[in-house]
Amino acid sequence: MKKNIKKIILFLLDTIRKIRTIYRNYTSPSPLVYSPGHYAYKRFIDEELNESYLYFKKYFYEAIFLPKERLRKYAIETALKNDKGENKYYMEFGVYTGESTNFFSSKLNKNLNAFDSFEGFNEDWVGHAHASGDFSLNKKIPKLNKNVSLEIGWVQETLPNFIKLNPDMKINFVHMDMDTYNTSKFILENIKPYLEHKAIICFDELYNFEGWKVGEFKALTETFNENEFTYKCFSNDGAQVVIEYN
Ligand SMILES: C[S@@+](CC[C@H](N)C(=O)[O-])C[C@H]1O[C@@H](n2cnc3c(N)ncnc32)[C@H](O)[C@@H]1O
Repeated sequence: MKKNIKKIILFLLDTIRKIRTIYRNYTSPSPLVYSPGHYAYKRFIDEELNESYLYFKKYFYEAIFLPKERLRKYAIETALKNDKGENKYYMEFGVYTGESTNFFSSKLNKNLNAFDSFEGFNEDWVGHAHASGDFSLNKKIPKLNKNVSLEIGWVQETLPNFIKLNPDMKINFVHMDMDTYNTSKFILENIKPYLEHKAIICFDELYNFEGWKVGEFKALTETFNENEFTYKCFSNDGAQVVIEYN
């Protein structure tokens, strides 16, 4: 008797679940049906994602996929494995509220040199959905770990000054997160002569988003030949990519 009641309850629960699934599928709009106002932007996103996928697919067989948080952990831990205790530099471009800065610096027993204007972008993020000035904190500095050494101001000014003061630096780790093309290209061109063999560069927006071709990816491929670096890790839930300098 008890067994039959259990069977009936399970049957009823299963039927309710099936009806709910049919109802949800019927009522939720297909992702391919756009309202006219969103059509161009949404279609652009779809096409960009497809083109990014087709471009990067050949590299997927030699790299790993991780979610964003684990990818960041992988990036800094891989850099630390290659660090033989010399005075190597760990750098971040783009601090904002300090989320990534505090994460990376928490893994280090040395300084993280972090750059930001705290005034947002100095140019439009073309191909994407942000304008010059977005991400501004009106120069308010976030709360950061003690081993974060800040370079405040436009990177076009602070980085050349920093290089002048540290002409012998050997860079072992870089987090690239100032997003826009001109700024990213400026950073990569300036740090390239100081990169250590096997240095890790973690890009926050390199692939898998609208505008990928005209942002950090363009800056990377215009600054480095394909044989100068290896794709090590791709985000499986975002736009992040880790490369190793050969
Ligand atoms: C996307 S946010 C960084 C987010 C941060 N890395 C994180 O994950 O928490 C980009 C930051 O780059 C800074 N930035 C963009 N272009 C810059 C430039 N040319 N010079 C200095 N800072 C810049 C902005 O002020 C902003 O705080």
